[in-house]
Amino acid sequence: MKTVTINTLNALKEKGEKFPVITAYDASFSRLIEQAGIEVILVGDSLGNVIQGHDSTVPVTMDDMIYHIQSVCRGNRQSLVIADMPFMAYATEVQAMENAALLMQAGANMVKLEGGAWLEETVLMLTERGIPTCGHLGLTPQSVNKLGGYRVQGRDDEAAMQMIRDAHLLEDAGIDILVLECVPSALAKQITEELHIPVIGIGAGPDTNAQVLVIYDMLGLSPRLPAFAKNFLAESGDVGSALKTYADEVRSGAFPKPEHGFT
Ligand code: KIV
Repeated sequence: MKTVTINTLNALKEKGEKFPVITAYDASFSRLIEQAGIEVILVGDSLGNVIQGHDSTVPVTMDDMIYHIQSVCRGNRQSLVIADMPFMAYATEVQAMENAALLMQAGANMVKLEGGAWLEETVLMLTERGIPTCGHLGLTPQSVNKLGGYRVQGRDDEAAMQMIRDAHLLEDAGIDILVLECVPSALAKQITEELHIPVIGIGAGPDTNAQVLVIYDMLGLSPRLPAFAKNFLAESGDVGSALKTYADEVRSGAFPKPEHGFT
C-alpha cells in the first residue's frame, strides 16, 4: 500500500491544508518527487506534448500510458499515482472498464477522465468496481478540436453554471478528486468550497485544495511558460530543490498567486 492514499488527501482537505501534485512520466523524476515528499503524481497524457512532441494529447495511446505508468511506479513507493485515461479509451462504459483495469494493473492508484455529465454512468460503474476516479473539468485538452483551441473555460454565466452542475453530478457519481483546468479563479473557489472531495487546480487560481503543474513547465523545459505556471528551477539551481520549493510554496499558499489565475 502506498504511504499516501485517498484518505490522506481527504484528511488534508478536511484540515484546510493544501497539497502539491506534479506530473511525471519516468522513474528518475518520480524518485525525486518522492524525495521531495510530494503527495500525488499525475501520469498525464500531457506526455503527448512534452515527451512525444505532438501538438495535442489526442495521439496518446493506452500502450503509451501503460509504459509511462510502469516507469513512474518503479521510481516511487510513496506518492499516490493518478493516470490519465487517454483519448477515446473511455468513449463507452465497456471501454472505460477494460482500459481502467489495465491502467490500475500497470500500477496506477486512480484513473482520470475528462468530461462532465456524460461520464456519470461510467464513474458510477468504475466506483462500484473499486476503481478510484478523478474528474477533469474546464479546459479538457482531449477536446481541443471541439473547443477550437486552448482557452479558459466557464467565463460566461451559463458555462459557469454548467460546470458547477457537472462538478456536483460527478461527485455524486463517485469521483474521489476533481481537476479544474484553466477556469476563472472565482468559479474554482466556489466549486472547491461546495464539493466535499479535494479539488486540484491548474490555471484555476489560489483557492483550490491542491495544485498541479506539468513538470516540464515548472523546470523551464517547455518552449513557452504558461501564464499560470512558474519556473521553479530558475531560482533553485537543481531539480530536487525546485520540486521541494514547489511543494513548500503550494503548502504555504505562496504559489499560485492571484496573477497565476484568470478572471
Ligand atoms: O495531462 C496532464 O498533464 C493533465 C494536467 C495538465 C492536469 O491533465
